[in-house]
Amino acid sequence: MKRQVSVIGIGAGNPEYVTMQAIKALNRVSVFFIPNKGDDKADLHHLRREICERYIEGDAYRLVDFDIPERSKAGAYKSDVAAWRAEVRRIYETLLTDELGADEVGGFLVWGDPSLYDGTMEILDTIRDEGRMDLDYEVIPGISSVSALAARHRIALNRIGEPLTITTARLVSQGLPETGGNVVVMLDSRSAYHQVDPDLDIHWGAYIGTDDEILVAGRLRDVREEIDRRRAAARDEKGWVMDTYMLSRGKG
Ligand SMILES: C[S@@+](CC[C@H](N)C(=O)[O-])C[C@H]1O[C@@H](n2cnc3c(N)ncnc32)[C@H](O)[C@@H]1O
Repeated sequence: MKRQVSVIGIGAGNPEYVTMQAIKALNRVSVFFIPNKGDDKADLHHLRREICERYIEGDAYRLVDFDIPERSKAGAYKSDVAAWRAEVRRIYETLLTDELGADEVGGFLVWGDPSLYDGTMEILDTIRDEGRMDLDYEVIPGISSVSALAARHRIALNRIGEPLTITTARLVSQGLPETGGNVVVMLDSRSAYHQVDPDLDIHWGAYIGTDDEILVAGRLRDVREEIDRRRAAARDEKGWVMDTYMLSRGKG
């Protein structure tokens, strides 16, 4: 039996980021696989449910919750991620085998856009390539946190003729890319903006697109303590924080 899956980008936090194409795809799905990533991310779990309730006509679909295991931080980063992805792959395989009937379409609601720091496609590719399951999937693009950040600050991501680098806090804390141009930083659990040139400009956003959104912009040396403060207060209140920011050289 060939299993059909839809990988749907749902945007980075605002139900109105869901596109018309995503709504059509949502309505083709029979079984949604909804990840649980621990209590702190319960808000994200609720948003996925809200999107289904808001955009799907009728109730001819079901939701299957599953737990995402914690990633070990004991070894090297890349091997820990590889081991974690293998575990998640086994979970996906079991879900697709046990929960998806013939002629049903499975759905994964991917935060933001599926092409950006998300493992869903890689996991499905591996399952298919290992040949243990006949699997086909479509991908629906979503509004990423990077696009949302740019829109909310009303900024272009790149300057004319210059590159844009999208990278992680882990990498940026080792130095800015030599290619020049603006740098968008994601996955920052270490306040990496303290490890770069304080004369850079920063456009920072947390919970972008949601009711809890916080935006701060300015010269890094002037605003980094404010970002620290607001980030810590938000984390204390909600239990988790998701932020993205762009670093750029001032126009002067
Ligand atoms: C695992 S990545 C997933 C990115 C997602 N696929 C996208 O297109 O935005 C998670 C990171 O995305 C960023 N992020 C996602 N949603 C965000 C939001 N609403 N506000 C700020 N940053 C967000 C943060 O940098 C977070 O650490």
